[in-house]
Amino acid sequence: MQGQTARDFIVILTGAGVSAESGLGTFRDKGGIWTRYDMNEVATPEGFARNPALMHEFYNIRRASARAAVPNAAHAALARLQRDWAGDVLVVTQNVDDLHERAGTSALLHMHGALEGALCHGCGHRWPAPAEMAPADRCPACGETATRPDVVWFGELPYHMEEIRFALRQCDLFVAIGTSGNVYPAASFAGQARGAGARCLEINAEPSLVAADFHDHLQGLATSTVPAWVDALLAGRRG
Ligand code: APR
Repeated sequence: MQGQTARDFIVILTGAGVSAESGLGTFRDKGGIWTRYDMNEVATPEGFARNPALMHEFYNIRRASARAAVPNAAHAALARLQRDWAGDVLVVTQNVDDLHERAGTSALLHMHGALEGALCHGCGHRWPAPAEMAPADRCPACGETATRPDVVWFGELPYHMEEIRFALRQCDLFVAIGTSGNVYPAASFAGQARGAGARCLEINAEPSLVAADFHDHLQGLATSTVPAWVDALLAGRRG
């Protein structure tokens, strides 16, 4: 791996694999979420319109699991890197859990939204999500019964894309952790960063669908690979 200089700007993209060892399911591994739920029914605007009760049940279960989960050593290592690295470190997560925040990561963008947020599908008002949401809930602002978790569904635009695109053009090192490279635009980030001159590292349990976009690869479970990588980077060894 090419060495990093101490003030390099690092952008880190995370996916479900970084929360897997906290007990939160991934989507496409064996027994993953999309083998148990039909994404068209619970993660599209059309599914919401057809059956809001099923959609709320899906996210209520995931919100309860996320609240019961504990950040793992990978989340902690990324927070430590952000704290101790001389340059900027931006974490862009596809995950809707709050384990990065609870581990202490601050410069963080939830491009697929967050389970702890609620959104009115009618007026766009946002507020902190209760433990359980239901179709009969009324929006605190407009009173409509059109509430939903503030998460991005398939067919909707991810959040913070301008800021992310700018960061991909500026970063010196782009790292993807725990993501399969199945879903765009996140799967295009390594190619964008590489095209702008960044060094690209994939840290994953197995090569992703876009592994060829990366210069370097660390294979293994996030709770062992990520802390070791952060230790090496902070010790000034080849990052
Ligand atoms: N350590 C490291 N990597 C892991 C671990 C682990 N403990 N467990 C699983 N992985 C890897 C898997 O090998 C896989 O490549 O994490 C990746 C998880 O891939 P997905 O389940 O597809 O999850 P993700 O890439 O985050 O999905 C992206 O798809 O359904 C949408 O909105 C949803 O944000 C999600 C997006």
